[in-house]
Amino acid sequence: MIDPFGRTVSYLRVSVTDRCDFRCVYCMAEDMTFLPKRDLLSLEELERLCTAFIAKGVRKLRLTGGEPLVRRNIMWLIEALGRHLTTGRLEELTLTTNGSQLDRYAHDLAALGVRRINVSVDTLDHDKFKAITRWGDLSRVMAGLKAAQDAGLQVKLNVVALKDVNEHEIPEMIRFAHGQGMDLTLIETMPLGEIEGDRTEQYLPLSTVRERLSERFTMTDIPYKTGGPARYVEVEETGGRLGFITPLTHNFCESCNRVRVTCTGTLFMCLGQEDAADLRAPLRASEGNELLAQAIDEAITRKPKGHDFVIDRRHRRPAVTRHMSMTGG
Ligand code: GTP
Ligand code: 5AD
Ligand code: SF4
Repeated sequence: MIDPFGRTVSYLRVSVTDRCDFRCVYCMAEDMTFLPKRDLLSLEELERLCTAFIAKGVRKLRLTGGEPLVRRNIMWLIEALGRHLTTGRLEELTLTTNGSQLDRYAHDLAALGVRRINVSVDTLDHDKFKAITRWGDLSRVMAGLKAAQDAGLQVKLNVVALKDVNEHEIPEMIRFAHGQGMDLTLIETMPLGEIEGDRTEQYLPLSTVRERLSERFTMTDIPYKTGGPARYVEVEETGGRLGFITPLTHNFCESCNRVRVTCTGTLFMCLGQEDAADLRAPLRASEGNELLAQAIDEAITRKPKGHDFVIDRRHRRPAVTRHMSMTGG
């Protein structure tokens, strides 16, 4: 699949549920209305959808949410998709999780062919963790991280940089992650959906963070690539990898290789735009995949050049009205 700007689409992110057992302050409001369960694609339909994308050249699949591991019977889907790893048609099957269920699932994930996972951990302070997630238990997530590493999964911590909240903790988090053999990626908060707080108050440009980090750490750009949007450095003092995801301060849309589909079968060609294509109707219209394949082709012709996120006091409304948990980032 090649889009109008010559970019090859080979990475599909699949949000398997909009529900989450946390309510991170930058992601959701505390009181959220989730989709009625009857609107969701079944796991069998999600599998068909992913298989259709693989037939079209997707080589990397990432399950997201909400929290992917709270979807009932999710391991059935992972097992079904894992078969594409065995045939070599899929290069990577992975997920982004908040870690709350990892202690239960890590072993099975590894057994089904998952090699690498990204876990959202914005702080190592138990009280702060509770404040950011609104009620999450950091000990449980830490147990999940350990279970993942014991199972042989490569772990990356996702840290959304939040002004006045975790900004002074970032060096300590880097030392922690690298000390445990985990990568760590810093992320700029993006304006998706109404939240209770003010995003201009949360937003911390990673250009500032990087400048401050360079006073403590020697960072060298490295060509490490995962197929995602992060640019990586190696930190000399820790020997670990540190990624920067900078949609606001350093746009990376030029090299975008991704699309994302929601748990209702809506395809978003860009995280930062409202335009979408319905894949549920063609999926359900026939048992064959022809209509679905056509709908996917048509959608790819509409992939936009990029997002137009801005965070400043003149832009109080989010650029995109849906929450991050609809598309899982
Ligand atoms: P790797 O495979 O490890 O590179 O993962 P990833 O960075 O692709 O996935 P992850 O789910 O860990 O996402 C990390 C952050 O990147 C999240 O905040 C996502 O919203 C953000 N992200 C991923 N893809 C895009 C994109 O196309 N545009 C923007 N603006 N952000 C993205
Ligand atoms: N901006 C940036 N990252 C976000 N995430 C959730 N909401 C936002 C936002 N508004 C992150 C989560 C998770 C990943 C999928 O996206 O922390 O790590
Ligand atoms: Fe849940 Fe992830 Fe959103 Fe936090 S960022 S509320 S863990 S979906």
